[in-house]
Amino acid sequence: MTHKIAVLPGDGIGTEITEQAVRVITALGLDLDLHTAAVGGAAFDLHGSPLPSATLELAQNSAAILFGAVGDWKYDALPRESRPEQAILGLRKALGLFANLRPAILYPQLANASSLKPEVVSGLDILIVRELTGDIYFGQPRGVRQVEEGPFKGEQQGFDTMHYAETEVRRIAHVAFQAAQKRGKKLCSVDKANVLETSQFWRDIMIKVANEYPDVTLSHMYVDNAAMQLVRAPKAFDVIVTGNLFGDILSDEAAMLTGSIGMLPSASLNSSNQGLYEPSHGSAPDIAGQNIANPLATILSAAMMLRYSLNEAAQADRIESAVQAVLEQGLRTADIYESGTSKVSTSQMGDAVLKALK
Ligand code: IPM
Ligand code: MG
Repeated sequence: MTHKIAVLPGDGIGTEITEQAVRVITALGLDLDLHTAAVGGAAFDLHGSPLPSATLELAQNSAAILFGAVGDWKYDALPRESRPEQAILGLRKALGLFANLRPAILYPQLANASSLKPEVVSGLDILIVRELTGDIYFGQPRGVRQVEEGPFKGEQQGFDTMHYAETEVRRIAHVAFQAAQKRGKKLCSVDKANVLETSQFWRDIMIKVANEYPDVTLSHMYVDNAAMQLVRAPKAFDVIVTGNLFGDILSDEAAMLTGSIGMLPSASLNSSNQGLYEPSHGSAPDIAGQNIANPLATILSAAMMLRYSLNEAAQADRIESAVQAVLEQGLRTADIYESGTSKVSTSQMGDAVLKALK
């Protein structure tokens, strides 16, 4: 079976890291049909849009998208619709990629990389399931308007709208409960139900869906407390499910717990398991083009792609084992380097993973 894959390298280190992931998946011996297209700032420079229609069509017609990263300070002055970030938001919306899976795993070989005490984080393995196509990110209306009444009457006011429809909450709940079933059977739903109507509604739906998963223990936590518990006792979590905005914030926090955001993959799936796979880190323009970025998050994202969208779980295992092997060999890119290990470049790390493939 041929797997059609869109490769969208994007900006900054995106090109270098996707190149290594492509080398790895190409070596697996699968029948892959790879198509590369511009996205983000790179696409804006070439075609005047961060998500050109040809790129969007390619993504829509592919089983999966391997995505690098987008963004660069040089685009900050552009109007919002032209900024690189619009590419990723546009792809999420157009493909209906509502389920974002962001694992935060502390590899035993990298236990010293965390800023937290080893006993707090060693063995950490949590999964954040973030709703990705709703919430205040996409809610309408939004914009700038004139205040009609109250103490600020007559002034200009910026505003956004937070909302979740029942279907949106239910479908992400099912993804999260099913993920929990395959792991430690604990699901923590994070909201702000003490203040927000949207969150109370979210919580009520989570409780209803829980009836279908009697083997999973559901708990609830306010987002401020969750932010605190994540640094206090992160290993108490198994799967966290939350909305788009809270998930954006908590997933960065969770990634940083491991001290090695350069290692963490992510998957964004729709209801037909079409998915976009990208590293959890950004485009790092400050180190772009130097062949020093860590390609492992992207290589591990490619493994998630094989598992979730291409139904090639055995091939995903091969890649994940190869990554374990290179860590075991003591190979480290600059971001995870410590004395006593061997510092390697982006492409050398790619070489090592290829060599370690069994
Ligand atoms: C992420 C990023 C995006 C988001 C940005 C680039 C729009 O921070 O994937 O977490 O906020 O979702
Ligand atoms: Mg983010």
